[in-house]
Amino acid sequence: MIPIVHTQNSKLPSLDFNNIPFGTVFSDHMFYAEFENGKWQKMEIRPLENLSIHPSNLAWHYGQSIFEGMKATKHQDGTPMLMRPEMHAQRMNASADRMCMPNMPEETFIEAVSALVSLEADWIPPAKGSALYLRPIMFAADEFIGVKPSSKYIYMIMALPVGPYYATPLKLKAENEYIRAADGGTGEAKTAGNYAASLYPWKKAKEEGFDQIMWLDAKERKYVQEAGTMNIFFVIDGKVVTPATSGSILKGITRDSIIKVLKSEGYTVEERDITIDEVMTAGKNGSMTECFGTGTAAVVIHVKEVGYKGDTITLDADQFKVAPFAKGYIDSLRNGSIEDKFDWTIKLQQQVKA
Ligand code: COI
Repeated sequence: MIPIVHTQNSKLPSLDFNNIPFGTVFSDHMFYAEFENGKWQKMEIRPLENLSIHPSNLAWHYGQSIFEGMKATKHQDGTPMLMRPEMHAQRMNASADRMCMPNMPEETFIEAVSALVSLEADWIPPAKGSALYLRPIMFAADEFIGVKPSSKYIYMIMALPVGPYYATPLKLKAENEYIRAADGGTGEAKTAGNYAASLYPWKKAKEEGFDQIMWLDAKERKYVQEAGTMNIFFVIDGKVVTPATSGSILKGITRDSIIKVLKSEGYTVEERDITIDEVMTAGKNGSMTECFGTGTAAVVIHVKEVGYKGDTITLDADQFKVAPFAKGYIDSLRNGSIEDKFDWTIKLQQQVKA
């Protein structure tokens, strides 16, 4: 059992479920653990609070920092639910391996997430499509100047009630100058530096009127990889196409769920190389009918425009069929309104107020 220190000052009464800008509202408690002398210790759930960190903290200087994004939701009967938590535990550990950081046993991760969500169940927004976003993070904690793997780490899990990450369809710029990740790099890991590296090209794309980047491969700037903050899908000639993960693309768990859902519904789904030229040509000749991004935060978001080297294709997002179906399916699994034939969802024991 993970010990719990309860807050004496809950912020829950001031929560307005109808007004929760993504990333700004935090629940009362967090999971906290330290890794030292080769083992996890000081594990507890405690009130969310600031940390006191030495200025030489290794993570700040050399970037040993990884995170996850997952969601807890409420079943229609009011029970808190998780979806595929073991996948997030495994991906966090894969990121940890790449960044030379310790693993947390899968059972411990799931126990921590379950205990936090059960405690914070009243923070889960009831509306379909909303969720309690969970943010596990682990970072180096050694006080040391010099490049080496840290010997100490801090692991936390925060919880944030959220609505949709994106509210409206996106305009993406296919980026032909800057890159997100190269083969052999850290693209597959959910590590802070990947996101830091995306900020400057994103800023430039926004100045040009785009909402986000569509990343191309580092070597030839030819193959589509993913979009900023999410994986990417196209519907071309009635087939669903998404770039195959190749070592430099994040192995999205929502991506994986959507591929499995669509296949089970009879769609043809191709995981393969797709060039930006194919996308632009298919957009122009009308064979591409949809483009959408997928991610834990974004779930499924329509793309209404793709720009590449000054050329633009537009899509009528109101006519999309696959993307809204996929989003509706995931949201329905998350609130228990359809049968979970994949066995992905876990209802947490504690029954809460609906
Ligand atoms: C997620 O989708 O959970 C992510 O971590 C992406 C982040 C930009 C919010």
